[in-house]
Amino acid sequence: MERKAFTVSIPSAGHVNETDYAGIASGRNTDKWQATGLTPERSARVDAPYVAEFPLVLECRLLHAIELGLHTRFIGEIVDVKAEESALGEDGSLDIGRLDPFLYIPGNRTYYRIGPYLGKAHSIGTGFLKKRK
Ligand SMILES: Cc1cc2nc3c(=O)[nH]c(=O)nc-3n(C[C@H](O)[C@H](O)[C@H](O)COP(=O)(O)O)c2cc1C
Repeated sequence: MERKAFTVSIPSAGHVNETDYAGIASGRNTDKWQATGLTPERSARVDAPYVAEFPLVLECRLLHAIELGLHTRFIGEIVDVKAEESALGEDGSLDIGRLDPFLYIPGNRTYYRIGPYLGKAHSIGTGFLKKRK
């Protein structure tokens, strides 16, 4: 809030334990970097650290902090994106299979990997209509 900045660091499935720990412990009384062995790295464009070991990072300038009561919603402008080369496909774009991120399912408090490729967005919706004719 003070520095008007935040980062979003997306972990791969291999770091699910450290990620869960970061959600359980509080920085108010625990050094989560020290406890997990993860490394804080200085951002290029904003005054907030990111997680060096995680393959995808968004650096954000804080635009709005909206008090919702139980939570505060932060809205930011993405000013830099970093991706590890190992998470990129042959064409240089992000490959979700190589990134290997995971989802949190709040209903039963579980984590799941992303499933297999389904289809091309902005495209399969129209192809399917033509086939039905
Ligand atoms: C699996 C999991 C998911 C969480 N999701 C959220 C969330 O979406 N929003 C939120 O405000 N807190 C969420 N939390 C709680 C925060 O992670 C927790 O309050 C935070 O780690 C407190 O750390 P801090 O005091 O250093 O900010 C989640 C915790 C866990 C374990």
